[in-house]
Amino acid sequence: MTVKLTWYSHACFMFEVNGTRILTDPFLTGNPLAAASPEEVSPDVIIVSHGHGDHLGDTVAIAKRTGALVISNFEIQNWLAGQGVQNAHPQHIGGAHAFPWGTVKLTIAHHGSAMPDGSYGGNPAGLLLYLEDKKIYHACDTGLFYDMKLIGEEGIDLAILPIGDNFTMGPDDALRAVKLIAPARVVPIHYDTFPVIAQDPHAWARRVRAETEARVDVLSPGDTLAL
Ligand code: NI
Ligand code: MN
Repeated sequence: MTVKLTWYSHACFMFEVNGTRILTDPFLTGNPLAAASPEEVSPDVIIVSHGHGDHLGDTVAIAKRTGALVISNFEIQNWLAGQGVQNAHPQHIGGAHAFPWGTVKLTIAHHGSAMPDGSYGGNPAGLLLYLEDKKIYHACDTGLFYDMKLIGEEGIDLAILPIGDNFTMGPDDALRAVKLIAPARVVPIHYDTFPVIAQDPHAWARRVRAETEARVDVLSPGDTLAL
């Protein structure tokens, strides 16, 4: 079964599986690289990894327009309820839940999670998505951590890893992450959106190809991959 994913830039993807559309970290408004406007995306599900503006993004507006189910940690759910978002599902780190279209498990991430208004946003998360027979690890915002090895033990078909440095792993640590996770495929994200996270993803891809078995796809915003 094919899982399709479209990268809108930064940490924002649209995954499509059996006609269900799952949007992650929809930072579109104010994102200079965004490949879509918030009005152009119509997800069934939105998953938010943490409260920072470049991940929460347009979640409230898109959720209210589409009625999409919003999945996030419990603290972000409380904040979303205060914004009038009704269709929501709280989870927390280490917990998986089976939805009709697939299973979502939240992983640890070493980062922050304050909401844009300064409210408490709980702990940040990475995402493990089990869509049909594919296992996808979307690390979202995190530094390198050794427990990525545990995530790799699941047998990851695709790892989505930040390489931007400064706020998250940079290229060196993201390469170490590939070695810990040993995914079949990897896609770099969270670079070039702002000058402080400018990187050369092709140079990184060459290092990954030279030092690991992983297939690397460097995407341009708007590109689609099929798994
Ligand atoms: Ni962040
Ligand atoms: Mn970020």
